[in-house]
Amino acid sequence: MAVSFAGVSLKNPVAVASGTFGFGREYGLRFDLSRLGAICVKGLTIAPRGGNPPPRVAETPMGMLNSVGLQNPGVEAFIQNELPFLRKYDVKIIANLSGETVAEYAELAGRLSDAGVDMLEVNISCPNVKAGGLAFGVDPASAAAVTRAVRDRSNVPVMVKLSPNVADIADIARAAEAAGADALSLINTLLGMRIDVNTRRPVLARGVGGLSGPAVRPVAVRCVWQTAQAVKIPIMGMGGVMTADDAAELMLAGASAVAVGTALFRDPEAPLDVIDGLAAYCARQGFTRAADLTGALR
Ligand code: FUM
Repeated sequence: MAVSFAGVSLKNPVAVASGTFGFGREYGLRFDLSRLGAICVKGLTIAPRGGNPPPRVAETPMGMLNSVGLQNPGVEAFIQNELPFLRKYDVKIIANLSGETVAEYAELAGRLSDAGVDMLEVNISCPNVKAGGLAFGVDPASAAAVTRAVRDRSNVPVMVKLSPNVADIADIARAAEAAGADALSLINTLLGMRIDVNTRRPVLARGVGGLSGPAVRPVAVRCVWQTAQAVKIPIMGMGGVMTADDAAELMLAGASAVAVGTALFRDPEAPLDVIDGLAAYCARQGFTRAADLTGALR
């Protein structure tokens, strides 16, 4: 089950997605975090953020909307308090980072890579903030500028997290690759909205939010498939992975690793079932290595 992902050795290709796992403390009460291939931690910013006002999550058919707004304790608190806890486990730590300017992304990259995380995940696709986030991820030139700045300040592999809310995800992927990205992760959430017909108000305080869960999986499969044909760097596929078959689907489309996200809110141990089920799928299909699943679409 081991895979090499952008030069980082993962004991299996299954990670947990940023924003769905906090910094692992609560899930660590449920299972041994060392069983995971990697943990993508909650998105970090330079200063602590309280996030958007509630309500900021809502259920949808086959998924959920969130407009959390990058609530996090800030990069220094992560380095001082959360990273030492995570380092007790034998699992790769991927630090997700968000800035309002290119300079902020670069500063975060320097501080996090110096602190010893295994990889950076550059979030240019958060739909829930006024400044930064998605604004950098919808334009190839801006995506490249952020990627280049982070690459220059980082001594660990750099993965850029892409949005499906674009006309052509392959354009953004190519721009990030040309600017030095070592890997890509996709997809972040799709912009969505719900309205309470009795109050005639949006269900989320901010109006719109990011849709995740099984409803978005076909979009994720399509985006991974298109991106895999456009770039040579590896892809971490995510978007509605609930089962091992869902993970296999993303790998067949071209992902070298996958992340489980929204499924965690229904079953905190879902990633473990995905890991075991993926091994069983490989055996059934005659793959001796999980890595051989990547792009094995007929
Ligand atoms: O609102 C949030 O914290 C979500 C971030 C993201 O989707 O990247």
